[in-house]
Amino acid sequence: MNNATLTKQRILTGDRPTGKMHIGHYIGSLKNRVELQHDYETFILIANIQALSDNFDNPGKVRASIEELLCDYYAVGIDFQNTRIYIQSEVSQVNEIFVYLSNFVTIQQLSHNPTIKTELKLRGFETSTPLGFFYYPIHQVADILCVNANLVPVGRDQAPMVEDSAEIARKFNNAYNVKVFNEPKPLFGMERNLVGTNGNEKMSKSLNNAIYLADTEEELKKKVFSVYTDPNRVRITDPGKIEGNVAFVYHDLFNSNTQEVEDLKARYQAGQVGDVEVKEKLFQAMNNYLAPIREKRYEAEKLKPELLAKSLEDSKYTSSVAQGVLDQMKSAMQIKFN
Ligand code: TRP
Repeated sequence: MNNATLTKQRILTGDRPTGKMHIGHYIGSLKNRVELQHDYETFILIANIQALSDNFDNPGKVRASIEELLCDYYAVGIDFQNTRIYIQSEVSQVNEIFVYLSNFVTIQQLSHNPTIKTELKLRGFETSTPLGFFYYPIHQVADILCVNANLVPVGRDQAPMVEDSAEIARKFNNAYNVKVFNEPKPLFGMERNLVGTNGNEKMSKSLNNAIYLADTEEELKKKVFSVYTDPNRVRITDPGKIEGNVAFVYHDLFNSNTQEVEDLKARYQAGQVGDVEVKEKLFQAMNNYLAPIREKRYEAEKLKPELLAKSLEDSKYTSSVAQGVLDQMKSAMQIKFN
């Protein structure tokens, strides 16, 4: 480790291993990580303990998704030589850190967390809430604080967890008059969730409206040609709507030829271009954007054992970092006996 590494600030972020990653994950979070990974000491966690909190009856899915995430990371350009990619359950210190941090948050506070509220509803957990799921935001705080992160690049829906981290860090430091923790800050990717192919406000596997980084060219084409456009437009000569039109949302994000996009928009609104041309050009643009990622993902598929081995090595390293933090916490709480 050189001097520059020693003085770098830390990033911690991660994902639940519950499936492959889609283009919403890419522009919302993965892209940021790739851009920042050499300016910060970066930790990426594969949150399999958290994934089990609502998939406890499906451990096979969680297990298999670990390699899928590793392939996605490799494909988008996460640098496996310099970035620490670890498996949450291999860093057992996080569970103990969670126990001590949970003293600094109330059940009432937790039940007001807007993300958990939405998620409980989504999963039908409102009247029967598994405790493990209920407290996962604070377990996530332990993820963030176990490496004493400074910056947490995440999607907007994760904002409450990063706010909790800063607050709990401050409360812990104040309670024991120590400076164990930094107060981590969030770094958001895109403003909002990426709209799904069917027009639903969130792209997600469960809504069956996602374009995956692993999709083949044929799959991409099929999905692009199925995107939600303007349902009220019957003939090409009808003036079309741009707002809420998924084809144009994606054009704006993935088509680097802004002149082409502006031209298409103008003609669409004037009733001078059909959906087919708009979608054909969108497919070309998105395919250009995604082809290099797809190529690297094919490469990664063959490297799965090596990628897993590297993440287990990184887990050992992260474990030692977390142990250092845990020792400081225990000293502060006067429960450190050796
Ligand atoms: N909850 C995050 C998600 O669903 C995953 C996650 C777990 C995470 N622990 C984290 C993200 C710590 C950032 C920091 O995407």
